[in-house]
Amino acid sequence: MNARAEPTHVTPAFDVERVRADFPILQIEVEGKPLVYLDNAASSQMPQQVIDRLVRYQSTEHANIHRAVHTLSERATAAYEEARAKLQRFINAPDAREVIFTSGTTEAINLVMHGYGRKFIKAGDEIILTTLEHHSNIVPWQMLAEETGAILRVLPINDAGELCLDQFEPLFNAHTKLVGVSHVSNALGSINPVRQMIALAHARGVPVLVDGAQAAPHMPVDVQDLECDFYAFSGHKLCGPTGIGVLYGKAALLEKMQPFKGGGDMILSVSFEKTIYNTIPYKFEAGTPPIAAAIGLGAAVDYLSAIGMDTIARHEHALLQYATAQLNDLPGLRLIGTAENKAAVLSFTLDGIHPHDVGTLLNQDGIAVRTGHHCAQPVMARFKVPATTRASFAFYNSMAEVDALIAGIRSVQKVFA
Ligand code: ALA
Repeated sequence: MNARAEPTHVTPAFDVERVRADFPILQIEVEGKPLVYLDNAASSQMPQQVIDRLVRYQSTEHANIHRAVHTLSERATAAYEEARAKLQRFINAPDAREVIFTSGTTEAINLVMHGYGRKFIKAGDEIILTTLEHHSNIVPWQMLAEETGAILRVLPINDAGELCLDQFEPLFNAHTKLVGVSHVSNALGSINPVRQMIALAHARGVPVLVDGAQAAPHMPVDVQDLECDFYAFSGHKLCGPTGIGVLYGKAALLEKMQPFKGGGDMILSVSFEKTIYNTIPYKFEAGTPPIAAAIGLGAAVDYLSAIGMDTIARHEHALLQYATAQLNDLPGLRLIGTAENKAAVLSFTLDGIHPHDVGTLLNQDGIAVRTGHHCAQPVMARFKVPATTRASFAFYNSMAEVDALIAGIRSVQKVFA
């Protein structure tokens, strides 16, 4: 492992203050108050180790990749492919060829829609989704359904925001071609039983795409253990840069799929009569990829792995429990999403106060939360709310920041009392 990518804190006893010291942005003030950053489900922050890796790449290694024999191109190519190998290890993919760099989760899902869906899904075929999908795992499939005449089936959720698993099996029939499900709901925090769902789908010969955008940053992910066919996630929620993400796909499926984008680097040969596509993963990486961002993401997963994804999950669970207990004590507060198995996402409404007002007033206390529908309007419709306020935690958040959130919510309630 690259020593520069190691966090300063790697001892088994998790010391949140030492971890926080790695993050320059966590030291700033907002509105004259120490920043309390609780919008990690939208985007996480970057430790100095990742920033340093980006600076080193840009200062001493940058050139285009896979194209030239000069030293810088070889350096950049090696660093880019090394990043792919780091991501492969991070999700325990069997083969680095199964790790495709995309611009993020959204592009990864669109890649599956175009590469797999447009080739193999026809009129009358069915795709199973769930109510708690992010729009990025709904809209591409609606576009495909409109184009092909395929049909979408939706697995509902209960009042806690858990998938109604007993209704999953009856959704399958001879026409079912794909299941798309998020590992963790971005709006509710529900951790979905994807392993069980994948086993059930596979017993019917149906492949499964998992949207892992909200899971990969918060818990160990092992694609071999899950046996998922596709797994998508984003770099910017994982302490990495924006503009980078990963699609993991089983090699046998990726090889059968058509390319999503055409251009340089995704071909073996081109003539006006016929183009022969490159092998995977390059077949899906047309054009100059986000080289620096991929290398930065490699450094980010080194950083997270050095802390340990189990340690991260444990600390975030403690934050969730501490915050949930206090929120439950606040009169007029309704938690939206109370699944038994939950990631550290707290969506809530306050009686008589619009979420945007809550977000604006919390910001005056230096507290960053997201307000709105969280790109999950079917979830909002299910709970009959137009929007929620969402506090979403990362491993660098502290119990003191939970206290700041609770105090902030009390002040908002006082303003509107
Ligand atoms: N999908 C991101 C969120 O949940 C942007 O906020």
